[in-house]
Amino acid sequence: MEKYLEYLQQAKKWCDELLRMPQEAGQMVLIERWKAKINEINDRLAKDLERDEVLEIDRELQALNEEWQHFYREMYDKPKEAGEEEREEASTAVPIGGHKLPRLPYAYDALEPYIDETTMRLHHQKHHQSYVDGLNKAEKELAKARRANDFALVKHWERELAFNGAGHYLHSIFWRIMNPRGGGKPTGELEKEINRTFGGFSAFKEHFSKAAENVEGGGWAILVWSPQAGRLEVLQAEKHQNLSQWDVVPLLALDVWEHAYYLKYHNKRADYIKNWWNVVHWEEVNRRLREAKRRERVEDLKQSEDSK
Ligand SMILES: [Fe+2]
Repeated sequence: MEKYLEYLQQAKKWCDELLRMPQEAGQMVLIERWKAKINEINDRLAKDLERDEVLEIDRELQALNEEWQHFYREMYDKPKEAGEEEREEASTAVPIGGHKLPRLPYAYDALEPYIDETTMRLHHQKHHQSYVDGLNKAEKELAKARRANDFALVKHWERELAFNGAGHYLHSIFWRIMNPRGGGKPTGELEKEINRTFGGFSAFKEHFSKAAENVEGGGWAILVWSPQAGRLEVLQAEKHQNLSQWDVVPLLALDVWEHAYYLKYHNKRADYIKNWWNVVHWEEVNRRLREAKRRERVEDLKQSEDSK
């Protein structure tokens, strides 16, 4: 019985989401009918039911599910009319060359004494800003190349796109996975996955710290969720632009370029890494993990749909 209630709750949410999206009149009627049906089944489930009645509900829900699937196939799989795709993209995506420096979710001095205000200010306002500018420039140049069908400089602008894009996205994660309320140990799902893969938090922390200490050049240590392996992994990115080619979702990223710590720690990178753990915002890392796993499930569903 519980599984039906759970499913009905989920189905109600879908209906509400669909009703918020622009729909044609006929589709609205259909969605409203589903909602009424869901409410009706919900009411029936609240009573004591005979076995036959439960089986009937099961049949009705299956029929509803088939309608859903048909509806989604119509909506997402039918060939798009000219211009439709562009309009859709324009409503959800960052416009080409329109990336902006994100605001820090705390004050520049909030991570003191572990990371000093001056470094944070420089790192965010100068270094990160230059990635945003570089990414916008590369996107615009590539758009120009597409319009002119002139790709003589494509290698250069692709490199700029990867270098500045990885810089912008990784720094955006980096700011959010730190917090003045940070430190301590991860809990919940993240703790479970860390234990499963690394055999415990201290083994993971040691592995991640050593990876960060030993990465060369413009480097990062990154905790990722590997959708294919179905578990966590620690990676080094020696040139951060290389990451943009990898099919992974960064969860926890530590910036070990000198500008992230040099004013306070000079050449003592290990001390910076040691202290950095005091500002890790595990709630945010956990949220990223849950998000990454949800994406994986969407992919799984799509694959099983395709193989039918
Ligand atoms: Fe940086």
